[in-house]
Amino acid sequence: MQCFDGQCRVVCLGAGYDTLPMRLARDRVKPEVWVDIDMSQNAEEREGLMGTTLARGFIDTPVQWHFNIGHDLRKGLPELPGSPDLPTLFIAECLFMYLEPKYTGLILAQIAMMRRTCIVTYDAFNPNDGFGKIMIRNLKQRGLSLEGVLGCPTLEDQRDRLSKAGFKVTAARDCKDLFDNHIDKEAKETASRKVMIDEWEQFNMLIVHYCCTFGDNGTGVMLL
Ligand SMILES: C[S@@+](CC[C@H](N)C(=O)[O-])C[C@H]1O[C@@H](n2cnc3c(N)ncnc32)[C@H](O)[C@@H]1O
Repeated sequence: MQCFDGQCRVVCLGAGYDTLPMRLARDRVKPEVWVDIDMSQNAEEREGLMGTTLARGFIDTPVQWHFNIGHDLRKGLPELPGSPDLPTLFIAECLFMYLEPKYTGLILAQIAMMRRTCIVTYDAFNPNDGFGKIMIRNLKQRGLSLEGVLGCPTLEDQRDRLSKAGFKVTAARDCKDLFDNHIDKEAKETASRKVMIDEWEQFNMLIVHYCCTFGDNGTGVMLL
């Protein structure tokens, strides 16, 4: 957003109750348009939360640039507010792991076809080792089906999924790699204090089961 001096759009898929746009805006970092998409009921609740407690005191006029859309993403992307010429960053945090791969493929292909887009995802993966199997079993017992994890189990699969959808530049890294090699010491210390990590062995085991991916549709959004 800083690269584009705010002249860009961010679309968060399966936004849940994430307050990121408000937190960024509090720090005076905001795009021209921010769109949060989730199922209708969640989007309505989110609207209420954002409109009252969260936004109040954080920023002055969230409605001018922030949009909540209630929409089932299994139908593909809805029509998005903002100019299609704006470079657009899509964020999907813990969404694709719950969706059947055919729906994820459809959404990714739609994004890749748009004018100037890139996507960052964060999801569970690596379900086939001992820890991964327990993770899947435990979540299943809680009624959560992880078709997206089973359908895209390795980092290579995660990258392939982006390439097949039409992204020209792709990357996938597990969170241990990101934590160990791509986060500066200060940020690591802050994170460690916040989550009180005292069992490093368990933490390391967990974070090799989460990954971030990146895709750019080749129009140079992230290649400034
Ligand atoms: C685990 S939550 C993650 C929320 C948020 N991204 C975060 O990281 O805090 C997954 C979100 O995806 C939403 N979701 C799942 N399937 C969806 C669908 N088909 N269409 C729209 N949203 C969906 C859920 O309602 C939920 O809010």
